[in-house]
Amino acid sequence: MSKSLVSGAVAAVVLAAFALAGGRQQSPSPRVEHGPKYTKEGKLLRPDDYRTWVFAGADLGIEYGRAAYRDEQKDATGSDKKVGDFHNVYINTEAYDHYARTGEFPDRTVLVLDVYKAAQKEPRQIVRQGHYEAEQLQVEVAVKDRARPDGSQTVWAYYSFPRMANRREEFAATATSHRDGECYQCHLQHADVDNVWVQFYPTLRRLRQAPR
Ligand code: HEC
Repeated sequence: MSKSLVSGAVAAVVLAAFALAGGRQQSPSPRVEHGPKYTKEGKLLRPDDYRTWVFAGADLGIEYGRAAYRDEQKDATGSDKKVGDFHNVYINTEAYDHYARTGEFPDRTVLVLDVYKAAQKEPRQIVRQGHYEAEQLQVEVAVKDRARPDGSQTVWAYYSFPRMANRREEFAATATSHRDGECYQCHLQHADVDNVWVQFYPTLRRLRQAPR
């Protein structure tokens, strides 16, 4: 065999290896690298860096029969119960990028609902109108995971991280998933895209009208 034939064969093998590696990277179900983190027992660890993710949108005063995180005690912030709470929604950056490209939420998408009390009176009495986000009340999380560590077959899992007793703005570090009837069903039936309330989040809604 001539030298050029041998080097040609070597090049073909190398090319084939590259092709195989490339093929694996373009798997049909993309995974988000920085997705949910779990304990050994399969509880979700509360994400602590979500404020640096993509801000999906905010709602004020939306309620749907669960006002569990309402703090009924009077407080100095002049909380306005008529207005309800602020909900800030964040999505992990890789999942956002994938949604922006494809219109689909990939495996290991994480959405955080960060709940704040709406307050009117700030201590210096400068503001005459409107509401600002005062005390943090609750952190809720939705996770899309095809391989849930708790063994459930439902792709979306829902978690609540309640405020710890007698502590302001400190929340449980881990949470077990809710039963499907508590959260999943309403999201499945009424949310616009794959259990996510895209209809309420301008950052995601905009992408449906004009995909990149
Ligand atoms: C009756 C309907 C309903 C039920 C039940 C429900 N949700 Fe939601 N959820 C909503 C609506 C509406 C929104 C979007 C607006 C908002 O809350 O700001 C939402 C948004 C969310 C979001 C933000 C991300 C997303 O999926 O759009 C999370 C996280 C969330 N809910 C968690 C929960 C958890 C945890 C439970 C169960 C304890 C639950 N939800 C039960 C209606 C519901």
